Amino acid sequence: MSFYLSPSFLSADFSALRQETEMLNASAADWFHIDIMDGHFVPNITFGPPVMKAIKKYAKKPLDVHLMIEQPERYLSAFAEAGADYLSVHAEASTHLNRTLAEIRRLGMKAGVVLNPHTPVCMVENVIEYCDLLLLMSVNPGFGGQKFIENTYRKLEQAVQLKQRYNPDLIIEIDGGVNLDNTPKLLKAGANALVAGAAIFAAPDVPKQIEAMKALGERI
Ligand code: DX5
Ligand code: ZN
Repeated sequence: MSFYLSPSFLSADFSALRQETEMLNASAADWFHIDIMDGHFVPNITFGPPVMKAIKKYAKKPLDVHLMIEQPERYLSAFAEAGADYLSVHAEASTHLNRTLAEIRRLGMKAGVVLNPHTPVCMVENVIEYCDLLLLMSVNPGFGGQKFIENTYRKLEQAVQLKQRYNPDLIIEIDGGVNLDNTPKLLKAGANALVAGAAIFAAPDVPKQIEAMKALGERI
């Protein structure tokens, strides 16, 4: 089965963003996962639209942008201008989620909603038709290289039910602790987009590792 593989720039070499982008362009990766952290919503800070724009300059694949920021509605147009293709906001961070998702689409991007590990899937039941993507966090957001939280499978099952009922085109993406071992199980359970940071960038041969992860999908 086909799925989108989205390597996370969080684990890339920030001193060589152009080379890392070009390496991913030439790889079997489908998207570039860009983690934006504000030091409030999560206890870590990464970078903002100007750095993302620099990545966009060389990127030949869609930017899958994950906003881990409070009140994301204040920055939607900045990320549209910086070149986001998919823009995902945390349900926990946006008071008027319906409005935020509509605005993302109005700005010409695909709209995504993200849930922290503790947030029930039913929280997004009433906005699921207005999303292109549902991202389930399988670690507590903020850092790369953490351990996958097993109850993600239970949430994935619930997400698949919502998808079948309300939005058959919905992309279900998993982020955090994804590796070669859990990839087949996640795909079988209905995920069709996977983010991977440490599992990809810690490998001695990154393009080869990306190819190995993609190949797991072909066997399902
Ligand atoms: C965590 C980020 C993830 C992170 C995943 O807050 O949202 O995208 O980069 O990294 P790994 O795959 O190393 O868990
Ligand atoms: Zn992420």
